[in-house]
Amino acid sequence: MQTPFPLLPTIGTIPENQITGREQDIVKLLRLLRSQSVSVEEMRRMGKSLLLLKLAYLCNSNLQPEEFKQDNFKAKYFSFQGKQNLGEVINLLINELKDFKEWHQIDFSKTYNFIKDIFSVPEVEIGGAKFSLNLPEYKKSWKDIFFKTLEDIADTQAKTNGKLILIFDELPIMLWEWYKEGKHEEAIELLDILRERRQVLEKKGIRFIYCGSIGIKVVLNTFRKDFKYTGEPTNEMEEFSLKPFSENESDFLCECFILSGFNVAADEKQLCLKKVYGLSNGLPFYISTIFNLLQTEFDYNITMNNIEAAYELIINDTKQHKAFKQLIDRLEIYYPKDKKDEMMQILNILSKEDHFIEEELLYTKIDIDNNDSLKQSLYTLLSDHYLIRQVIEGKRYYKFKYQIFKEWWKVNIA
Ligand SMILES: Nc1ncnc2c1ncn2[C@@H]1O[C@H](COP(=O)(O)OP(=O)(O)OP(=O)(O)O)[C@@H](O)[C@H]1O
Ligand SMILES: [Mg+2]
Repeated sequence: MQTPFPLLPTIGTIPENQITGREQDIVKLLRLLRSQSVSVEEMRRMGKSLLLLKLAYLCNSNLQPEEFKQDNFKAKYFSFQGKQNLGEVINLLINELKDFKEWHQIDFSKTYNFIKDIFSVPEVEIGGAKFSLNLPEYKKSWKDIFFKTLEDIADTQAKTNGKLILIFDELPIMLWEWYKEGKHEEAIELLDILRERRQVLEKKGIRFIYCGSIGIKVVLNTFRKDFKYTGEPTNEMEEFSLKPFSENESDFLCECFILSGFNVAADEKQLCLKKVYGLSNGLPFYISTIFNLLQTEFDYNITMNNIEAAYELIINDTKQHKAFKQLIDRLEIYYPKDKKDEMMQILNILSKEDHFIEEELLYTKIDIDNNDSLKQSLYTLLSDHYLIRQVIEGKRYYKFKYQIFKEWWKVNIA
């Protein structure tokens, strides 16, 4: 059993050794990573990045769960957010590899020699400031350099008899940005390397985690449609879905917050913790937001009334709506207008339902006759984590996945 420690509520980042919960998720992820690469996708603010940062921290500090002590997992986290091109991605990888050197004495000689040969530069110091690959004249060789870099890492890795997990956070968003800026060829180039070479690298002990708040599928579907792209870069990757916190995880996080200066009556505490768990749906972002509000608006006093009032603010106060807006933004950005309108209508209706609603009944409430198209939209909303589905006697029933999203939608959008 872990003991709670003082933690200030934040909706920003948390030091890697203070990220709470996620033990079970980490066990499940590492079991998968023994034999394959994994893709993690969930909506924004669900706790993906912190989960992966914790995973990397535990592996690298030899604090991994007992059953993985023999596996010799190491992990390196990269955020691709804002990287403008493949050159910047390679620069990031190589610069961050200083850490690898300590672990494994990676020999980059292949890459160095390779770059020396093609550019006839006498001296290359990658990783230092001297040499930047992010220059137009290197562009045509990025693909090769990228693979060589990964190959160098993999060759060293193969000798250690362990597994090295390369975490590519925000990979799909980055590819999408490139696409929007007309740089889809570069995006496809990167996807091609990851597809063609991944298996070779995996054989030598490299594992990849692709992570993002939009599914890589959304990107691929667009590439298929617009550029007849046929690659399947994530075909043999296991998809891992992040769940909300369990009640225990939620209680633990609350206990940590409480230790940082909150007041709560001893006989009301258990009820209050239950309330926070219920209203937040176990989403750590909303647990933190509730405590943020208890701190600023309610003078650190945790009571049932104050928790409910904080929840009201989350749903009603426009200042709190930034994280909810993704629900609409995603539909607007990643889908054509007619599809977006259709999905909005579906969500409007579902937001007013308290229970699961049957598909056929849903159709009768929508002002659109094309049932095939509606069916597709429902499926998209399901795989994009807006909805959950039940099948009873062969009939499909849907509702919002998270009550807090449903409430917000009902009050602010429908
Ligand atoms: N394990 C955790 N312990 C404590 N707080 C957490 C945890 N996971 C998530 N949170 C809270 O949720 C917020 C969002 O977490 P995180 O940045 O990991 O989400 P994300 O899914 O990567 O979001 P995005 O898609 O926007 O990058 C954090 O700032 C924190 O307030
Ligand atoms: Mg993130």
